[in-house]
Amino acid sequence: MIKACPLQRFADRRVIVTGAGSGIGQATVARILDEGATVVAYDASSEGLAHTATVAEEAGTGARLTTAVLDVSSEDAVAAAVSAALAELGGLEVLVGDPSAVASVIAMVASDDGAFITGTEIRIDGGAHA
Ligand SMILES: NC(=O)c1ccc[n+]([C@@H]2O[C@H](COP(=O)([O-])OP(=O)(O)OC[C@H]3O[C@@H](n4cnc5c(N)ncnc54)[C@H](O)[C@@H]3O)[C@@H](O)[C@H]2O)c1
Repeated sequence: MIKACPLQRFADRRVIVTGAGSGIGQATVARILDEGATVVAYDASSEGLAHTATVAEEAGTGARLTTAVLDVSSEDAVAAAVSAALAELGGLEVLVGDPSAVASVIAMVASDDGAFITGTEIRIDGGAHA
């Protein structure tokens, strides 16, 4: 039987993660799913995303994960993908990605195309500085 993670810091949090098919992004998806998040995970690699989904299925958290292929270097593709993710999630609390991907998503959310999102509060955590 799969045990739920005792820490549930992401319960009721809707999250987009880019670069989710490998490394830090993939590990982040697994962890925040364990902690209760609902996640839309993007990566350029469909193989990587398939592995991310398998990890979630095995952990019993796959029902809260959606994966989709996205090249974050295309602003138009990011806008379309984020729009679709927001429609599916109904809102967004957390965005995880490298700075350029995060910037693209914020640009979309702040644009007229994101006007249907109400009560937007954007906080940016730049992480630790050396
Ligand atoms: N691993 C570390 O210790 C470490 C430390 C500090 C910073 N970083 C940086 O953090 C980032 C992630 O590191 P990682 O180890 O998780 O790397 P990784 O290579 O394991 O994962 C990166 C993921 O991003 C995806 N990706 C690449 N280009 C993309 C694009 N245009 N659109 C969508 N997805 C794309 C790849 O398919 C891959 O799944 C890198 O920029 C790395 O330089 C890593």
